[in-house]
Amino acid sequence: MKKITKICCIGAGYVGGPTMSVIASQCPEIKVTVVDINVDRINQWNDSNLDNLPVYEPGLNEIVGATRGKNLFFSTEVDKAIDEAEIIFISVNTPTKTYGKGKGQAADLKFIELCARNIARVAKTDKIVVEKSTLPVRTASAIKSILDNTGNGVAFEILSNPEFLAEGTAIEDLLNADRVLIGGDDTATGKAAKNTLSAIYERWLPKERILQTNVWSSELSKLVANAFLAQRVSSINSISALCEKTDANVAEVSRAIGYDSRIGSKFLNSSVGFGGSCFQKDILNLVYIASSFGLQEVADYWEQVIIMNDYQKRRFAENIISTLYNTVSGKKIVFYGWAFKKDTNDTRESAAIYVADALLEERAEIVVYDPKVSEKQIYADLDYLNTRTPEENRRLLKVTNKPIEAIEDAHAIAVLTEWDEFKTYDWSLIFKKMLKPAFVFDGRRLLNKENMTQIGFNYYKIGES
Ligand code: NAD
Ligand code: UGA
Repeated sequence: MKKITKICCIGAGYVGGPTMSVIASQCPEIKVTVVDINVDRINQWNDSNLDNLPVYEPGLNEIVGATRGKNLFFSTEVDKAIDEAEIIFISVNTPTKTYGKGKGQAADLKFIELCARNIARVAKTDKIVVEKSTLPVRTASAIKSILDNTGNGVAFEILSNPEFLAEGTAIEDLLNADRVLIGGDDTATGKAAKNTLSAIYERWLPKERILQTNVWSSELSKLVANAFLAQRVSSINSISALCEKTDANVAEVSRAIGYDSRIGSKFLNSSVGFGGSCFQKDILNLVYIASSFGLQEVADYWEQVIIMNDYQKRRFAENIISTLYNTVSGKKIVFYGWAFKKDTNDTRESAAIYVADALLEERAEIVVYDPKVSEKQIYADLDYLNTRTPEENRRLLKVTNKPIEAIEDAHAIAVLTEWDEFKTYDWSLIFKKMLKPAFVFDGRRLLNKENMTQIGFNYYKIGES
């Protein structure tokens, strides 16, 4: 088997950064170089203060601190890294298309194609090219076609090795992955490439957890895994609405069904709606692929997961408005949390953005506190929606780093992210500072209902009447 001494990863984002850091930490004899065209991002990865890394993940600072400058490097010299490496991971973003055919559904593969062309131009020795990004099924054939037509006689093997880490637990997920999926051709060289990549993961994971498939199964499995996970959240969220009408309690229902080992207990926490850069994007991609093959019923089936998620976010915002006597105009509402889940600074598709937008349309005055998200990011998220001018967004919504002071004279608090610290707050003190009646809308089912009502709050918890 080919001995690997140099790996390169194109894309230093939420996947490329943590994944390569873990590979570097587990394989000290392999030089791992992560490259990106975004100079600021690379500078952040190289910042001497590890608290300034562009990605916040528990445990990441320690790993980067121990490997950076030894066998882990972050650089903007893309061509040099490609030239040196025996394995090249492509881990660039694959957002939903915002233009042209497939707009709003299909994955935009322009960054992937640019990477393939870059590799084709630079490579002078044989390479294994690994799709780490989440890609529509059959993308490998496009990459192969670009790579095989360079005319410089280099042999490329293309593998699909989708990433299953979740943000907030990325390091733990990488170190202790349920499974690693490697798709590749069933030819002799394809099998050899799969084994070469497998050997890297086998350095810290049991071989039984490394699954080998053909390329198309691997590409499709990634989309399907995310679709199934998101479907569970939408399913339980649909039931949360029913619980609120029937005096059933969604946590009790989750527990009751989750004890059935065929259903399982994970991913049944009702919430204000799933966010994150991938669930919606990947389901839309699945919907697009199914409908482009004429499978409209399949497309409609999966689209419903997104429709239910949008309903949940809207329902949460509408409940705030109707509970606050049908008007939030001029009322101060404090948001606890902006990130799409706890333990990450990522806000992509966070439910908080859409809830804020709906309340701002009703002229609410919002103050946001999130322990890891910057003011700049919060305004960028709102401005991106283009619902109102940036000036209006800044006039109606303020960002604070003082969560307790912020609630002075507030009408309501909305819990949008399940940060642990919110549970430790002195809620009696918070109650005293707020206008009465004081409302808390808990979109994460984070707080104890009995305590909150005892303190005097009008407390709404998603999925309970
Ligand atoms: P990201 O936006 O955080 O990072 C992508 C990086 O690629 C950016 O820094 C960008 O500048 C860089 N890039 C784009 N084109 C480039 C080029 N031609 N050359 C060099 N660099 C380039 O994205 P991410 O969250 O890391 O996601 C990457 C892929 O992984 C996506 O396909 C996503 O669906 C998938 N994925 C993401 C997660 C997650 O938790 N975020 C988990 C599993 C899979
Ligand atoms: C998800 C998948 O879990 C990963 O396996 C996958 O690799 C990744 O997408 C990806 O492809 O990007 P991530 O989005 O980082 O990971 O985080 P999750 O823990 O899956 O949470 C997604 C959203 O669902 C969050 O907003 C979370 O709050 C919400 N959620 C999750 C619920 O509302 N209820 C649950 O029970 C679980």
